Amino acid sequence: MTTREDRINDQEPTTLRHVRIREIAAHENQTVLLKGWLYNKRSSKKLHFLQVRDGTGIIQAVVSKADLGEEVFAICEELGQESSILVSGKVVADPRSPIGFEIQVSRIEVVQNVEGYPITPKAHGDAFLMDHRHLWLRSRRQHAILRVRHTIIKAIRDYFDERGFVLVDSPIITPAACEGTTTLFETDYFGETAYLTQSGQLYQEAAAMAFGRSYCFGPTFRAEKSKTRRHLNEFWMVEPEVAYMNLEETMELAEDFLCTIVARTLETHREELEGVLERDLTCLNQVNKPFPRVHYDQAIEMIAKIREQKEDAKEKALLELEWGSDFGSPHETELTRQFDRPIIVHRFPAAVKAFYMKKDEDSLRHALAMDVLAPEGYGEIIGGGQREDDLAVLEKAISSHGLPRESFEWFLDLRRYGSVPHAGFGLGIERTVAWICGLHHVRETIPFARTLDRLRP
Ligand code: 4AD
Ligand code: MG
Repeated sequence: MTTREDRINDQEPTTLRHVRIREIAAHENQTVLLKGWLYNKRSSKKLHFLQVRDGTGIIQAVVSKADLGEEVFAICEELGQESSILVSGKVVADPRSPIGFEIQVSRIEVVQNVEGYPITPKAHGDAFLMDHRHLWLRSRRQHAILRVRHTIIKAIRDYFDERGFVLVDSPIITPAACEGTTTLFETDYFGETAYLTQSGQLYQEAAAMAFGRSYCFGPTFRAEKSKTRRHLNEFWMVEPEVAYMNLEETMELAEDFLCTIVARTLETHREELEGVLERDLTCLNQVNKPFPRVHYDQAIEMIAKIREQKEDAKEKALLELEWGSDFGSPHETELTRQFDRPIIVHRFPAAVKAFYMKKDEDSLRHALAMDVLAPEGYGEIIGGGQREDDLAVLEKAISSHGLPRESFEWFLDLRRYGSVPHAGFGLGIERTVAWICGLHHVRETIPFARTLDRLRP
């Protein structure tokens, strides 16, 4: 695409040092080379103000007709949004710049001049932006979100790595369900039916028996026909599992883990969160231990009370909930409103939980399950609990859930050979990013979302 005519200065390639915008402050008063794209442009008769982005930041580059001549000035006039350009110039301090510096351009080379970039600075609808996700990733806001996601993932890995957890990757293609048979993505495995994994947990149980503490971190899949702002069909989950751990201890782990991740993200990304995403940090600053523990039965009572106080019939109907049902998002939202930080609901009815959950010895209709609910309407971000470690009880659960026994023989071996109490949980990355960034919908928290109505791009 690049022709010689596209180039502006008919010179040999520059030998200047390539500098990234993020590091520009270290180069004040030096002449540097930027390699990037035109983000936006403003012009007057004698000056072009090019907003140049390079993936690490955005800087204003000033092109002066007096300095660069008519011809170069005219070529800059034609430069379209997202044209790829090499910009050389002097770094000068500018107190009006959000990053404190601008570039006085001495030379500019056009790698590709672009016409008709579809995403213009005007407002576009969500569907349009999602259709152009491959380009939308270049925007300032998407940068902020994906950088926060990066930091959250790094913080998660560091948390477990620093505490002696061994990373043991669970397989993606599996022969059986972990989280119920209704949300399985089926695939043909050389003539045999296989499924995309819903959770790496079962394999982590094997890993925990081998290493004591383990975790996996990977994509998981749910063929859920839900079109809510919290659901994706492909999402990333981190799942720690610990041998000789009970429900109470796994709640402590989840709480400490979440506090650490939130603190680290706030420390690293105040500018992205407050400056770009306009996130009100009040609630996030209160993410401290201990998180209130709420027994499921107590939660049911609280929700009933909240419901009584509602005057609006529609709101009342949404909050209807009988003992034995799982929470919907209205229940989670109202429940968390009673507190100033995330809460942990524990001991859900065994009947609504997965086959592997251990029952509460003191009340067999309750499972030793727990969910961490985030405030501000974000709801469940962690689900986990203590696992059934008794062979006979687990065999019965597998058959009463209608699961194919032959696919679980290996899992039952873990109860035959050195079974111990153990527990763990899974944290959904996208819901966590949505909460920390204060986003309405999870689809912006993952580079390329897979939802009920979206397989492309
Ligand atoms: O509560 P879930 O289904 O738990 C499990 O899969 C366990 N096997 C985890 C374990 O104990 N190792 O899912 C865990 C978390 C949820 O709390 C939520 O954050 C996220 O995964 N999640 C989803 N995120 C986006 N879209 C969906 N459809 C999700 N389903 C679950
Ligand atoms: Mg759950």
